[in-house]
Amino acid sequence: MNDENASPANEARLNQNGPLGLRGRIQYAATVGAPPAEYTRVALCRCGASGNKPFCDGSHAKTGFADHGRCVRPPEPSTHAAEGELVLVPIANGPLRIDGWFELATADGQRYVCGDKTWLCRCGASGNKPFCDGTHKKIGFTA
Ligand code: FES
Repeated sequence: MNDENASPANEARLNQNGPLGLRGRIQYAATVGAPPAEYTRVALCRCGASGNKPFCDGSHAKTGFADHGRCVRPPEPSTHAAEGELVLVPIANGPLRIDGWFELATADGQRYVCGDKTWLCRCGASGNKPFCDGTHKKIGFTA
């Protein structure tokens, strides 16, 4: 774990044409059964091209990933607190699941509470970004 204190509220920020920034008490195990590493801030790949999935490595700039950074279909309203641990669970050849509660801030300033399981598109092709809509199967996404 790095020495930066976790932010009091979990927050995900959608970047136009780029990754999802996530702040909070974040856990991620690179392999099944391995002890999870802990983070307070990560950038998550949304374009599908990162060589360091689920994290962003800047590949979106090379691939020309284009996304407005808004919710195509906003999640159901919730008043749940955006706190507690966040666990990153990449689904094989599919989305990135986040277990836990967080506030999602869009590029145009909208805010939504998401949880306690949220499936985020990481193939870059969903028609319902930032969420998965199953398109990864049609395009043969592998990760
Ligand atoms: S991961 Fe992109 S549509 Fe499912």
